[in-house]
Amino acid sequence: MNTVVVGLQWGDEGKGKIVDLLAPKFSYVVRFQGGNNAGHTLVVNGKKIALHLIPSGILHRNIICVIGNGVVLDPAVVQQELVNLLDWGIDTNQLKISHQAHVILPLHRQLDHGRESLLGAKKIGTTKRGIGPTYEDKIARRGLRVSDFIDPDKRQQYFSEVMAEKNHSLEHYKLPNLQFQELEDWAKPLAEKLAPYVVDTPALLHEAIENEESILFEGAQGTFLDIDHGTYPYVTSSNTVSGAACSGSGVGPTHIQAVVGIAKAYITRVGAGPFPTELNNEIGEKLRQVGGEFGATTGRPRRCGWLDIPLLKRACALNGVTHLCLTKLDVLTGFDKIPICVAYNNGTPVYEEMQGWTADIVGCSSWDDLPEECKKYIHFIEDLAKLPIVLISTGPERNSIIVRDALFKN
Ligand code: GDP
Ligand code: IMO
Ligand code: MG
Repeated sequence: MNTVVVGLQWGDEGKGKIVDLLAPKFSYVVRFQGGNNAGHTLVVNGKKIALHLIPSGILHRNIICVIGNGVVLDPAVVQQELVNLLDWGIDTNQLKISHQAHVILPLHRQLDHGRESLLGAKKIGTTKRGIGPTYEDKIARRGLRVSDFIDPDKRQQYFSEVMAEKNHSLEHYKLPNLQFQELEDWAKPLAEKLAPYVVDTPALLHEAIENEESILFEGAQGTFLDIDHGTYPYVTSSNTVSGAACSGSGVGPTHIQAVVGIAKAYITRVGAGPFPTELNNEIGEKLRQVGGEFGATTGRPRRCGWLDIPLLKRACALNGVTHLCLTKLDVLTGFDKIPICVAYNNGTPVYEEMQGWTADIVGCSSWDDLPEECKKYIHFIEDLAKLPIVLISTGPERNSIIVRDALFKN
């Protein structure tokens, strides 16, 4: 059953953990959009690893991990992740990189910095990884694709051709001009390292479908960071909704059977932009501390707030969610009352208060062991969202999970 995993909020919902957990049911795990603005944290037997570009299936042997054509890829970051994984003794031969993915160059990172600085108080709060400028070049049909990056002649020709235009932009932001040799010295060793992983990934996935092998698509960011459907302009530069799994991988929509939407039991957001249920008080601070809500990519403190049902319902509709997963439920332990936003009145959230619980549920893996108040909290969300919560995450570890549907049992 080919399945897409997407975040239903503003990112960091725990997609990495869930993809790692579900991966053994699949033959392929595919990233289809975004870049190393993503930070997906996996915790296995107390060991923690944050992945930014390599799909979260990589810890499992015999699963092919694909960086799809919809991804923008910083070759230096892929290279560093490969080194880290090898240090851990993880075989990385099962990684495949799309020849059509676009390359993030150092100049894209510089432009991202430059733009944010110039925006001042109006800045987006990007991860400054060059994501926006790289997608701009892609859409403007002047980007550098992986296939051309790994071909010395094409790469050098590209560098010499783009320099004039890029220097113009860099000057606007008072950034130094590009030097051809500097660019080439950066690119050459990285291109050589990447080349063995580069293939026609759509063809690879079509073959998988023909052989009835199953594919798990790993979303990055979250629904309300989507360039079309998010809180524009405080969004990322790609489509993050499940539909992007098709264009970003080359697999048609008729080959996707399920969409697992992931929501935290509360909400977080990194960077600027609207967040109606945000808690700018000691409760928000408590969620941040207990939940360890600091960005996996930039280390920035995440803004925290209560769950928002109208937002959740919209996200489910935008993604065609078939199954829900609720993460970080353990973080809510010890709150006397847990408000949930159930509606809006003239733009102001209307809350219903749920009773809290005190029993420690970290690591709980059985529905029957959950406190009654916890079960009520989950049923309440299911009733309003009109979708089943099939996975409940109770801690960062892979096995801290309650699985309520046989489909998702390994
Ligand atoms: P992603 O970007 O959606 O993959 O999420 P991140 O990895 O950026 O952020 C989620 C954080 O919460 C990571 O540090 C995870 O290890 C952690 N995490 C995931 N699920 C749970 C959970 O159920 N409980 C707790 N306490 N932490 C969790
Ligand atoms: P994962 O996959 C949370 C946010 C940034 C900023 C906006 C634009 O770990 O959930 P960008 O660098 O993409 O141009 O920044 O998007 N952002 C994320 N927030 N989790 C992420 O990824 C994010 N990726 C980007 O903070 O507000
Ligand atoms: Mg993250």
